[in-house]
Amino acid sequence: MKVTVIGAGNVGATTAMRIAQMDVCREVVLVDVVPGRAAGLALDLNQSAPIERFRTRLTGTETYRATANSDVIVMTAGRPRAPGMSRLDLLLVNAAVVRDCVAQAAAQSPFAILIVVTNPLDEMTHLAWRTSGFDERRVMGMAGGLDSARLRWFLADLAGVAPPDVEAMTLGSHGETMVPLPGRATIEGTPATRIFDPATLAGVFEHTRAGGAEIVALLRTGSAYYAPASATAVMVRAILEDRRELHPVCCRLRGEFGIDGAFVGVPAVLSRRGVEEVRELDLEPGELAALREAAAAVRQKCAELEEALARG
Ligand code: APR
Repeated sequence: MKVTVIGAGNVGATTAMRIAQMDVCREVVLVDVVPGRAAGLALDLNQSAPIERFRTRLTGTETYRATANSDVIVMTAGRPRAPGMSRLDLLLVNAAVVRDCVAQAAAQSPFAILIVVTNPLDEMTHLAWRTSGFDERRVMGMAGGLDSARLRWFLADLAGVAPPDVEAMTLGSHGETMVPLPGRATIEGTPATRIFDPATLAGVFEHTRAGGAEIVALLRTGSAYYAPASATAVMVRAILEDRRELHPVCCRLRGEFGIDGAFVGVPAVLSRRGVEEVRELDLEPGELAALREAAAAVRQKCAELEEALARG
């Protein structure tokens, strides 16, 4: 088993570390354009292996030859938004990075499963799918796992319980179009709707929606990476171990939930085949409407991206 992580920045390096510590594959290959960066971090991580007691070997490189025949490719490379940069500027910069990296990685590993983490997530996942030429079930984006974890943490904090004792799921996408599922949130097994009033729950959902921005404002430079890396690593593990585990995943729908041809966050069973199945949970009418709205927003953003790319 082999995993390639493209981008050895905060998210990529931490994801590589989490995967290595899970000991679910023989090798993790880190790729970065900055000379020596991936090789240096891989060496540092390898030297933690005797202490952390993992057997996975890390390799760092600036080219794609060493990534050949990977089972999973995680795409994290990209630029953060710089002051004065518009959303479209960032979109075009990262689109160029995604096209370049994914084309090279996909050529080396034509049977891999591709997980996109680079933002803006939905557009980058769509573009990675188009660039790779992979079957849509082998291309997915990481967003829902992170948003769900943030929601679980905020609920746990508010209720004064341990985070693993809270279950909750968000669908849709990052940011404004996140779709929380209040009916599925439980705190130590009790429905969250029986513990908190609707206004309190709405406040927690809003906090979750703005969860990434809150961290960016505190850090001043850079964005979150510990929770994004954890959320990505568990997807990798579910795939490598053929777990058939349910994860909220950004994937291309083919009529599920009445949505066709758009990438949006939905509950998906992950296996060695990638997205084994999209689980059409029984959503409340309001949740379903919000999911369809999120899909329409993504479709519109992807159309804008395609137009901008066609204009050059
Ligand atoms: N090929 C390979 N690596 C590249 C390329 C490229 N063409 N372009 C940039 N990189 C690398 C950079 O050298 C850097 O090491 O991508 C890395 C990005 O790292 P950070 O700036 O630390 O960003 P990070 O916090 O890791 O976020 C990466 O994940 O969560 C998202 O919004 C986030 O889109 C961002 C991505």
